[in-house]
Amino acid sequence: MEFTIKTGSPAKLKTGLLVLGAFAGGKLSVLTAAVDGATEGRIAALIKRGDLDDKAGSTLLIPDLAGTQAERVLLVSLGKAEDFGDKAYRDALGAAAKVISSSAAKDAVLALADIELEGRSLSWRLQQAARIVADGAYGFDALKSDQGKKTRKERGARKLTLLVSSELSAELDTAVLQGHAIATGMALAKDLGNLPGNICTPTHLAETAQALGKQYKFGVEVLERADMEKLGMGSFLSVARGSHQPPKFIVMEYKGGKAKAKPIVLVGKGITFDTGGISLKPAAEMDEMKYDMCGAASVLGTFKAVAQMGLPINLVGLIPTTENMPGGGATKPGDVVTSMSGQTIEVLNTDAEGRLILCDALTYAERFKPECVIDIATLTGACVVALGKIPSGLLANDDDLAAELLKRGTESGDRAWQLPLWDEYQELLKSNFADMGNIGGRYAGTITAACFLARFTKAYKWAHLDIAGTAWVSGEAKGATGRPVPLLSGFLIGRAQAAAR
Ligand code: BES
Ligand code: MN
Ligand code: ZN
Repeated sequence: MEFTIKTGSPAKLKTGLLVLGAFAGGKLSVLTAAVDGATEGRIAALIKRGDLDDKAGSTLLIPDLAGTQAERVLLVSLGKAEDFGDKAYRDALGAAAKVISSSAAKDAVLALADIELEGRSLSWRLQQAARIVADGAYGFDALKSDQGKKTRKERGARKLTLLVSSELSAELDTAVLQGHAIATGMALAKDLGNLPGNICTPTHLAETAQALGKQYKFGVEVLERADMEKLGMGSFLSVARGSHQPPKFIVMEYKGGKAKAKPIVLVGKGITFDTGGISLKPAAEMDEMKYDMCGAASVLGTFKAVAQMGLPINLVGLIPTTENMPGGGATKPGDVVTSMSGQTIEVLNTDAEGRLILCDALTYAERFKPECVIDIATLTGACVVALGKIPSGLLANDDDLAAELLKRGTESGDRAWQLPLWDEYQELLKSNFADMGNIGGRYAGTITAACFLARFTKAYKWAHLDIAGTAWVSGEAKGATGRPVPLLSGFLIGRAQAAAR
């Protein structure tokens, strides 16, 4: 999708689709009022008659509205003026995005970002608008045959003009570019998530990383099983034992910052299919375990967004990736393995495999002398029980880093919620036969998983995002969400701005 920003009179713009906002009760935004004036009060009259629902995100499509140069006008409700906040704004954008991506209009003009929102700059409003509209155009039908692909003609606007009533500036252009780049990163994360386990293998993730590095000119190295054996990654490799697919350890290095600036390291869980291993999962909904590489996908998506924005930061991406399969060679409950750190682990449940691959990646991260490390993983079903599918779970060994991530989550609309990482929970990982077990029992599963990881992250500031509930949606609209690419991108944009100061 192509984006431009414009100022000018909305009624005079020639376009396939003009998107305008109105509050419940009939209060019009500045640009909507201008169109209302040019149409002899037609918009106000329609609202008064009750044609537009009060709820933020409700819409009314008006074809050939006399007085405008638009083929269609889409009125979007902003909800009550006194309740207008981030959520109502995003709901309105989401509804607009739906129509923009399915309309017969070839181009659209969006006047929603111009609407004042307490505490949110025009840049923020534009970034959100560009991201949500670009993301709304996402679809995944790569695996449908031509007959299976929707027969509808190519619909959806290709060009979007963001209409504002203030002066244009480079800062506003940057905001739109960022929103677009984040949506592009989300699309990559979604594609990888939606691809099934027989296509999106560890090798496929490695090839994707290599292609990305080539396109955006950053370094990519892929370590093979023999390399990992030399490094002593016994914990990671214990998960790969049941699989016929070769495991890969992907290392990406983006150097946009000063040569001496310490890198931020992102680590993504890349289980391309999680059967549970010998501790086999039940059959129901097991297909969704193709999404168990969404942490890895979010790292790749964030790299794409960062590289497209050209952020002046140094960034390292680490992706341990393998299938978790049962088999004659598979790790068995009770097996003891030695991690790269030297710590030994009793594998009491082979379905708690995410932490086993992450711990070796977290040890490997030390060599980069990182500014901080963030791992992203679909780690525990317990996280979905605790928090549902709204926020990602956040645990950290550094309160400032946690606070920063929470803030960027709220700002981007890709929220996280912090859980405690207290030492008292460490006891639950006791093993009679090794330094630790890989499970902590029935209680506090998300916390004990993070406690396990914390034993490998003592050398640096670290945060862990459990995205088990947020990386995909189930049911009729089953599909990857691209989260937490917006949160991570927002965090890195913030770090880049701080470094420039
Ligand atoms: N990938 C799963 C976590 C998961 C389950 C994410 C369901 C989303 C939905 C992970 O590898 C796993 O199986 N975790 C176990 C841990 C347990 C054995 C301690 C779990 O959550 O049940
Ligand atoms: Mn598992
Ligand atoms: Zn898993």
